[in-house]
Amino acid sequence: MRFDVVTLFPAMFAAITEHGITRRAYELELWTLTTWNPRNFTTDAHRTVDDRPYGGGPGMVMMAEPLAQAIEAVRQDGGGAQVIALAPGGRPLTDAMVRRLAEQGGSLALVCGRYEGIDQRFLDICVEEVVSVGDFVMSGGELAAMALIDAVVRQLPGALKEASAAEESFVTGLLDGPHYTRPEEWRSQAVPQVLLSGHHRDIEAWRRREALRVTARNRPEMIRAARAEGRLTARDERDLRELAHMGAVGTQSAA
Ligand SMILES: C[S@@+](CC[C@H](N)C(=O)[O-])C[C@H]1O[C@@H](n2cnc3c(N)ncnc32)[C@H](O)[C@@H]1O
Repeated sequence: MRFDVVTLFPAMFAAITEHGITRRAYELELWTLTTWNPRNFTTDAHRTVDDRPYGGGPGMVMMAEPLAQAIEAVRQDGGGAQVIALAPGGRPLTDAMVRRLAEQGGSLALVCGRYEGIDQRFLDICVEEVVSVGDFVMSGGELAAMALIDAVVRQLPGALKEASAAEESFVTGLLDGPHYTRPEEWRSQAVPQVLLSGHHRDIEAWRRREALRVTARNRPEMIRAARAEGRLTARDERDLRELAHMGAVGTQSAA
């Protein structure tokens, strides 16, 4: 899959090309990355990419023209089949969106804002979708773009050594439960006995119950969605009632 990123800070992207699973996938050529600095598409001596906002107010706004020219250069180079801009006011990035982008593959151009944001006319004309990575404001779109690329790349076939993606949070409509590794006892805290039992059915049942517990505690709306979509079994509902009775989750999660 091809990624083109329009950014004032190309060096930041070493974080994903030089580390971890994304680095391995990069070296396997499962994905490529080209960065495009809007400053290279300016005509003045200062290589200006921002200006004051019309209507007044604090901060600066990224000008449309250098960004548009950067996207045109991406297209001339054969990329940018889809263009996404990152902004806190965009559509929330979800597991479903990540999977759709990975399945589509092809080429994706990402536009990273800085300052107060990007001139709306560029967003209206040159961008298909505006995406947010969460309800908070960062200083720039680079970390958001890297979050998106990382999440998409790990869904590309061959990116993960093991088939662990199938069990991760959101795949089943629930969050992932807790994990434990050696030693069996750490600072007087033991690993749950069932995980040492070797009984695979019991372990699966425990993991499902723990996924329900974590989801009901941290994201009760996901339990309601799973119930509405008929993805909770009678046993799940019994476990949720028991967990609510024990005070481990809020009563609203119990049917
Ligand atoms: C300081 S922010 C601009 C915030 C903007 N004035 C607002 O209130 O929505 C600068 C840039 O960071 C990026 N950014 C910040 N938070 C983000 C988020 N949660 N998701 C995606 N991009 C974000 C965007 O590219 C944005 O243009």
